[in-house]
Amino acid sequence: PGVLTRTLLNAGVRVVALESNPAFLPNLQSLENSLDGQLKVIYGDFYRLDPLTGTLKPPAMRSEKLFETMGVEAVPWRADSPVKIFGIFPQSKERLRLWRHLLALYECSSIYRYGRVELNIFISEKEYKVLTGKPGNASAYQAITVLCQLGCEIELLHMEPWSSFLTNLKNGGLAIPKSMRLPNDHLCLVRLTPQQNLFTGGLTPTNSPIFTFMVKQYLAKPKSRLIDRLNSWSLDNSSQLLRELEIPENAQTRNVYPEDYKRLFEALQNSNVFTETWWHDEVFENIRNINL
Ligand SMILES: *[C@@H]1O[C@H](CO)[C@@H](O)[C@H](O)[C@H]1NC(C)=O
Ligand SMILES: *[C@@H]1O[C@H](CO)[C@@H](O)[C@H](O)[C@H]1NC(C)=O
Repeated sequence: PGVLTRTLLNAGVRVVALESNPAFLPNLQSLENSLDGQLKVIYGDFYRLDPLTGTLKPPAMRSEKLFETMGVEAVPWRADSPVKIFGIFPQSKERLRLWRHLLALYECSSIYRYGRVELNIFISEKEYKVLTGKPGNASAYQAITVLCQLGCEIELLHMEPWSSFLTNLKNGGLAIPKSMRLPNDHLCLVRLTPQQNLFTGGLTPTNSPIFTFMVKQYLAKPKSRLIDRLNSWSLDNSSQLLRELEIPENAQTRNVYPEDYKRLFEALQNSNVFTETWWHDEVFENIRNINL
């Protein structure tokens, strides 16, 4: 406990620590009092920011409140990150939490209303491999891969063996039960910096739910042919569209590069597929299902 906070304090930067466990608060608060303003401690849970449903009972909190307390103001998307966040992603529901972050990023909602907030997070090696998967790789190239690579610059800063995170509990057991140990050996400290040029072209925070839904739907069947997916939307000139985008006509959805998904989306905006009402129903259903 406290290892990230201490490391950041030693680096001499101003730190705001979010602590969700009341048992750890007194120690942190006495550290805060001894530091003359370098550290601010808030009772809150970063992983329960802006819940879409349910009551807002602490440690859950709204990002407006958090940013106001930190004294950080929103900056334009193209400006540098207004704040850097460091944390360890809880292993339970790791994938869902990453999804929620990416959807918020594409919509510029939650913490991303304040600009291109930089995340420095420990995630499992397994998830890191998915985020950095290459097109064509059957196991590693998924919808979340496309959205993450298009939405963020991904840098691996450090890999730390799992064993460093195992602390002994009072009863002599391990803090992480055996059943949770993962088939790989490390937690990866990964920096995700939102791309400055994400919203150039036809993609906007407002239409991004349609884009993220499209990518999710197409990669749910990674071996299906892109052209068949397009035809299923009764697009009558799919081959012509793919030719213009220089995407091979027989490409499977798992072979399409992230940038090509964006170009395809931009081209489709000029057709009438996205104006169909069933789209919007499905897209919003999809967003609701990713609520945590
Ligand atoms: C697919 O990705 C996994 C995870 O990164 C990697 O271990 C594997 O070698 C890749 N497979 C191919 C065929 O590139
Ligand atoms: C496909 O057809 C739609 C309308 O039918 C048109 O607006 C669009 O420009 C066409 N796309 C291509 C690539 O020809």
